[in-house]
Amino acid sequence: MLQKKQPIALYAALLLLNAVAQSGPLFAQTIPSLRETFKNDFGIGTALNNAQIDERDPQMTAFIARQFNMATPENVMKSALLHPQWDTYDFTMGDKLIEFGKKHDIKINGHTLIWHSQLPGFIRGIHSKDSIQTFFTNHIKTVAGHYKGKVYSWDVVNEALNEDGTMRKSVFLQYLGDNFVTEAFRLAQEASPGTELYYNDYNNEQPKKRAGCIELVKKIKAAGVRIDGVGIQGHWHVGKIPLKDIEESILQYSALGLKVMFTELDIEVLSRNFQGADVGQRMTANAQSNPYPTALPDSVQQQLAADYEALFKLFLKHKDKVTRVTFWGVNDANSWLNNWPIRGRTSYPLLFDRNSQPKPAFYKVIATAK
Ligand code: XIL
Repeated sequence: MLQKKQPIALYAALLLLNAVAQSGPLFAQTIPSLRETFKNDFGIGTALNNAQIDERDPQMTAFIARQFNMATPENVMKSALLHPQWDTYDFTMGDKLIEFGKKHDIKINGHTLIWHSQLPGFIRGIHSKDSIQTFFTNHIKTVAGHYKGKVYSWDVVNEALNEDGTMRKSVFLQYLGDNFVTEAFRLAQEASPGTELYYNDYNNEQPKKRAGCIELVKKIKAAGVRIDGVGIQGHWHVGKIPLKDIEESILQYSALGLKVMFTELDIEVLSRNFQGADVGQRMTANAQSNPYPTALPDSVQQQLAADYEALFKLFLKHKDKVTRVTFWGVNDANSWLNNWPIRGRTSYPLLFDRNSQPKPAFYKVIATAK
């Protein structure tokens, strides 16, 4: 009797194990790890949101720690959040991120000291050069000083350029003139000497914007100020990855002695009527704007996988120049593209689906390492 029951019990146990393995944390341990796969090539990063930094879901925490060895705060180190009032700084969430990094052996890239978006509200009430200058100096000194020895790197300036390579008419350009970029790097270097310092932008792989970016870098260097690398955000569109421009950019930036990073990688599958990633730009929704509310069609899934594969082949070809590849979000559910440039869409831009399960693109990326 007992002997007959055993195979059934064993079978039931196997079924149960299989079910758990398909859905739960056990499964997460059986899929390959990006950070492990590319450990001799470049860092693998992700952007972390509040809930992830707060470790609200232990399974998510374990997943992040297993897949990534670098992280960028998606929002919590932007000036609006760190510096809510003229004299008030709030380092609570940023400090939690530093602890998260220490605990899980993840290097933190500070994002970002000087950016025209997500500025504190009080900036709108300032209309004098002196006050903007004071904000600029105090912000960099205080924030870079606070995180001295704690962050691995800073995106010192984000998105200072227009598409044609000229300087964007931001509040900083308006009041401080085009030297503000060099000055930001000088202040960051003084406040946090051991930290890597980067310029970060979107579309700066495009020839005109790239030329502007190269001019900026040369200007910083000519002033005797340190800049260690350039971040290409990498918010691209499925089927339209500008591989040639990306390769030329890797070569040209690294020829200046800079590290090259892909800092906010995602591949949009939904339509957008403009190029780039200006967070201030929005589109109005219509009946066609959310075409895949429940699932991504297989043809698009395959194109997404092919795009990621081509990108990682290129990154590996230049692994001596590319130091980091950071995805802008852990999984599709977290992506900002669900809400930009139209709120409430269902996008599929990353390697992991809404349940952190690997997509075909993930396996294509892993296979490039072999
Ligand atoms: C985005 C965040 O992902 C969103 O949560 C936020 O609402 C707006 O900013 N370029 C950048 C990032 O440098 O900081 C932006 O992040 C995406 C575009």
